[in-house]
Amino acid sequence: MRIAMIGTGYVGLVSGACLSEFGHEVICVDKDSAKIAALNKGQIPIFEPGLEDVVATNVKAKRLAFSQDLESAVPKADAIFIAVGTPSRRGDGHADLSYVFAAAEEIARGLDGYTVVVTKSTVPVGTSRKVEEILRQARPDAEFDVASNPEFLREGSAIEDFRRPDRVVVGTESDRAKAVMKEVYRPLYLNETPILFTSRETSELIKYAANAFLATKITFINEIADICEKVNADVQDVARAIGLDGRIGGKFLHAGPGFGGSCFPKDTLALLKTSQQVGAPARIVDAVVAVNDARKARMAEKIAAALGEVQGKCIAVLGLTFKPNTDDMRDAPSLTILPALQAKGAQIRAYDPEGMDEARKHLDITFCKDAYQAVSGADAIVILTEWNEFRALDLNRIKALMKAPVMIDLRNIYRPAQMADAGFTYVSVGRRSVSPKH
Ligand code: UDX
Repeated sequence: MRIAMIGTGYVGLVSGACLSEFGHEVICVDKDSAKIAALNKGQIPIFEPGLEDVVATNVKAKRLAFSQDLESAVPKADAIFIAVGTPSRRGDGHADLSYVFAAAEEIARGLDGYTVVVTKSTVPVGTSRKVEEILRQARPDAEFDVASNPEFLREGSAIEDFRRPDRVVVGTESDRAKAVMKEVYRPLYLNETPILFTSRETSELIKYAANAFLATKITFINEIADICEKVNADVQDVARAIGLDGRIGGKFLHAGPGFGGSCFPKDTLALLKTSQQVGAPARIVDAVVAVNDARKARMAEKIAAALGEVQGKCIAVLGLTFKPNTDDMRDAPSLTILPALQAKGAQIRAYDPEGMDEARKHLDITFCKDAYQAVSGADAIVILTEWNEFRALDLNRIKALMKAPVMIDLRNIYRPAQMADAGFTYVSVGRRSVSPKH
């Protein structure tokens, strides 16, 4: 089966590479000539564990190629995936569909023989139908169907998520398109992955409902964490105990500084827009967005409170990306928290294993070569992202390097008793704060 993937961003690149691993012949197309040139040299523009290997293996096997030439990729393809960006439109929160529609216009020109055009980008309900209208208008003669096939990839484990998904959702009511999509995902059928065929509108909404629900779960436990702090309870025990109830489930109950990333903030806003447009209020999602935004801002206050006076203090920040195993800084809590601390007069020294190149574009702080350099002379450490390498720091060495042994752990990667024993003042999320034992 021949597949064209339009857009080599995060989703396009991972999906294209993994589909080639399934045995299909995949061409990934992008307008960005520098990106295509780099990919052709084996350089991967994002940090995603395992991606470089999958790309290299499949390029070598001649199943995966990169090109700028959409016009020649389209006629040969049995399935064309649209995986271009759908950023939040500045000002109104609507998903910006201009790239999706521009891709559809270009695809239309090249259609040749029966083709399934698939919207892979996260798009508001009704978009696949609009893509169909664009194609139909431009090419009344062409034989095609438009299907929706949302992705559920998590950054940092996207390759694994693609190979072993919980489910695959395909929105199409055409039997011919269903047959093509079944062939695309044939290796997953063999693994007995549930593949759900729905209408296109349902498929598009599933993606938003899944992300909004997960964002709600996180926000819920974050508010429970705030209550825990007031009543001297432990949020980790609460999360574990409620999570053991099969109706609730233990995942996505980790309290922290608020969710970020390329999906939850954007998709919750886009779902709110849809709900307003159709006159079906989504008050829970509305509250989730507001609570999460306020939380990020409030984390700077929490850090300030632990320090007493912020003016003139040096704060070592460990982790800048929105989560570990990615270099993605989109909507990272650090982008709200650090400027707020700087505005209060703090000096920031930071280290992130993969995110510093991205972070440099957004933050005017001192970047350090590792955690130990960052903490040297600091009045406090703030753990903002739970990278594995921060879970086992040499606490004695750190204490000796710091001006004062204070840690604000916004990811709860250490235990209060352990930190008190190690001689730290330790403040975390939804758990009791402790002072040094000696
Ligand atoms: C998410 C969805 O999980 C994925 O299915 C979808 O396709 C894209 O959006 P991603 O943004 O890569 O994936 O990261 P995820 O692991 O879901 O984390 C999102 C945010 O929530 C991060 O900021 C993370 O720190 C936060 N989070 C997650 C918590 O604060 N607590 C949790 O328990 C889980």
